[in-house]
Amino acid sequence: MSDKKRETFGSKLGLIMATAGSALGLGNIYRFPCEAGANGGAAFLIVYLVIALLIGTPLMVAEFVIGRRSKSNPVGAFRCLASAKSAWPLLGYLGVLCAFLILAFYTTVAGWTLGYLGKAAAGHFSGQDLPAIQRQFADFTNHPWLPVVCQLAFLALTAVVVMRGVKDGIERWSKILMPLLLVIMVVLCVKSLTLSGAGEGLAFFFKPDFSKITGRVLISALGQSFFSLSIGMGALITYGSYISRKDNMVSSAVGVTLADTLVAVLAGVIIFPAAFSFGIQPEAGASLAFTTLPMVFQQMTGGYFFCLMFFLLLVIATLTSTISLLEVIVATLTEELHLSRAKSALVGAAGTAVIGVLATLSFRTGSPLHLGSSTVFDLLDHATALYMMPIGGLLIVLFLGWKMNGLRKAIYLIIRYLAPVAIAVIFVSQLLMR
Ligand code: TRP
Repeated sequence: MSDKKRETFGSKLGLIMATAGSALGLGNIYRFPCEAGANGGAAFLIVYLVIALLIGTPLMVAEFVIGRRSKSNPVGAFRCLASAKSAWPLLGYLGVLCAFLILAFYTTVAGWTLGYLGKAAAGHFSGQDLPAIQRQFADFTNHPWLPVVCQLAFLALTAVVVMRGVKDGIERWSKILMPLLLVIMVVLCVKSLTLSGAGEGLAFFFKPDFSKITGRVLISALGQSFFSLSIGMGALITYGSYISRKDNMVSSAVGVTLADTLVAVLAGVIIFPAAFSFGIQPEAGASLAFTTLPMVFQQMTGGYFFCLMFFLLLVIATLTSTISLLEVIVATLTEELHLSRAKSALVGAAGTAVIGVLATLSFRTGSPLHLGSSTVFDLLDHATALYMMPIGGLLIVLFLGWKMNGLRKAIYLIIRYLAPVAIAVIFVSQLLMR
């Protein structure tokens, strides 16, 4: 496809903001505390930080470079950069499949944020005690159709923005609203840290017990960093393909990694002290963020307003993430199958909806949508974060490090040697240490 037909981001800031928009989302505020809570708190945090900076940033650069050089979707990118008959384009297809599967379970929780925005507006949390707020979460996720309607509404919203294209849709949204989310999170932090018993939660999150670092912790941290930074499946190849030639991608990648990590850590500093203060288990899983946060809000002066603003911004942060996932599918369908943007967005959203509804319904107690002890939701989450993204990321760094020429900077040494070895070791170690 000729360069003229493709859109590009308006500026370097546009790329940074769109990538940050993709990175910041439920991965930081919902999934990170879940994973940290289940994997030993501070021990997980340390492993996470090391992996995000040492593997995450270089992999992000790798995706940008592949996208910028090929100016193409993940499938087209590997076809264009590798020899035509090689198997590399399959890696692109793996990415597109991964985007589908992530979007399917991601929109489950995205739907909850929409539902919780409604609850916040209706003032459902004010004056409620912990059991009542826990019951609200159980009632909401167990409701026969409400979470499904919220999920479908979220998908529709995503499709509408994606249809309008890169510049108008993605770039504009991200630029204005992400900084605002940060402000609210800082306010929340202050409140959480002043709750009685906050110290215990801080210790859980910041005082590492290194004996807790197991193979499971390593792979969880790897999967979480890939998930949170939107890497390992081609989303950033797609965004990289919208970069104009001259921009410096290393500084953009470092900036986005730092911002994403900051928001995840802030989420931890909000959620763990509050959880310990209210007597919520850090291993509470799916309900952790959705019970802790409303509890904090309803103890704050102006809690109604802050709660409403928070869920509104969370919906938007989540939307800029679902946009990037759907964009992978849409870029591939428009360029590979020559469908129109609108048709591609509809096909992508409808395909996602089919699996996504199963993930949402699998949360209901007694739902038959289980395999062994895992729900469809967990299966999709684990298949993508613990398997597909690490494998995808490994192959992406191998491709850039060993198949492409003309890479000189120090960061390519990491991409060539350190990142592949580290990913492979973590991936294999957790397979062996079960
Ligand atoms: N990174 C996003 C988050 O943390 C989720 C996300 C968006 C994503 N696009 C992705 C995850 C691509 C993996 C791949 O909420």
